[in-house]
Amino acid sequence: MRDMPVLQDRRIVLGITGGVAAYKTPELVRHLRMAGAVVRVVLSRAARQFVAAGALAAVGAEMVDDRGPGMVHIELARWADVVLIAPATAHVLSRLAAGAADDLLTTLCLATEAPLCVAPAMNRIMWLNAATCANCAVLRERGVGFVGPGEGAQACGESGPGRMSEPGEILTALERLWDTAGSLRKVRAVVTAGATYEALDPARGFTNRSSGKMGYALAAALADHGASVTLVSGPTALPIPPRVHGITVMSACQMRDAVLACREEMDLFVAAAAVADYRPQTILTHKLKKDAETLTVTLVRNPDILAEVARLNPPPFTVGFAAETGDLETLARAKRARKGIDLIVANPIDEAGVGFAQDDNRVILIDKEGAVAWPTAPKTEIARALVREIMKRLPRTPSP
Ligand code: PMT
Repeated sequence: MRDMPVLQDRRIVLGITGGVAAYKTPELVRHLRMAGAVVRVVLSRAARQFVAAGALAAVGAEMVDDRGPGMVHIELARWADVVLIAPATAHVLSRLAAGAADDLLTTLCLATEAPLCVAPAMNRIMWLNAATCANCAVLRERGVGFVGPGEGAQACGESGPGRMSEPGEILTALERLWDTAGSLRKVRAVVTAGATYEALDPARGFTNRSSGKMGYALAAALADHGASVTLVSGPTALPIPPRVHGITVMSACQMRDAVLACREEMDLFVAAAAVADYRPQTILTHKLKKDAETLTVTLVRNPDILAEVARLNPPPFTVGFAAETGDLETLARAKRARKGIDLIVANPIDEAGVGFAQDDNRVILIDKEGAVAWPTAPKTEIARALVREIMKRLPRTPSP
């Protein structure tokens, strides 16, 4: 359920500071470029003693001229999907911890909202020094990612912790960072979940068996990847996941209004809610008496929220679910076409152990390219894998 070139077209600012390990950075740039990333390099003055700009440019780095016109630091800070400092000296770690802004690299680190990742490199005693430990603790606390350092022979002739991680290890760490945090940082997602409740009278109404588990897992997975998530949910027993903005509604019409209120700020719409297709034409203000032997209730069509969102101009990337009995794939394909959406996730609701209210699900993903069936798995796992599939398909957020 996974495999993706996570760094394809990702914009990486590589800050190189003055340590011997800077000689490894052309190799690091080569790895990043081969993984599909676009790399802009900020070379500190001290780093120039260890690596030549020409060597970096030769392997595909775009060298940044810090004497260029305009606000280079702001431009880079906005451009970056991630800022990586490798090697990161004890000096730059202390300046980052202090919030210094006295050169291009530290200034852009202060100005960016992109995740910051450092690969420290220094003598083992410097690495273990209480001052460095305190600086690293401050940076970790602020969410800075650390790669390494490794242990081994050092340029100073000593041996111990403080060696910069190898370029391949840094690449892997970056891919992992990407896969879990910040990769949807600029994406505003709206997710619907749970069942709607269509009141008939003050006591009764029409609803369905959706528990919200699938939609809540998706909202959590999107937030874990850094998206800003609004979860519009029917009544459920579930807590709103951390870092998710929750809006609770009852009826399909309320759900529609809550979703469309986000229309101007929606890059991604995921409709996992089981929305009632019909509602009673009239909601009685008094409790219906059981006088008659039979009862006829007139139902009227509810708005189709997903189809309406797909018709917005411009539409967000739209993901729908198809809860089906019977020929799952054929029915879901038709539903995708009818609603005009990008991706549909078909799930059976007539199989034991999956679907409504279960912890597991079995899904088939269908887009314009075709269909892929996934094996039964926990909804939380399916949500994470689905988010990765969405990330592959999402149009790139334009550079500000
Ligand atoms: O909540 P759980 O217990 O975890 O169960 C998960 C689930 C089975 C409810 C979920 O995986 C799922 O399939 N959700 C969609 C259920 C559904 O209403 O399917 P549908 O085939 O009727 O609708 C198709 C799509 O249109 C759905 O994305 C639905 O959210 C959307 N829709 C439907 C009707 C409507 N009026 N407005 C909509 O937006």
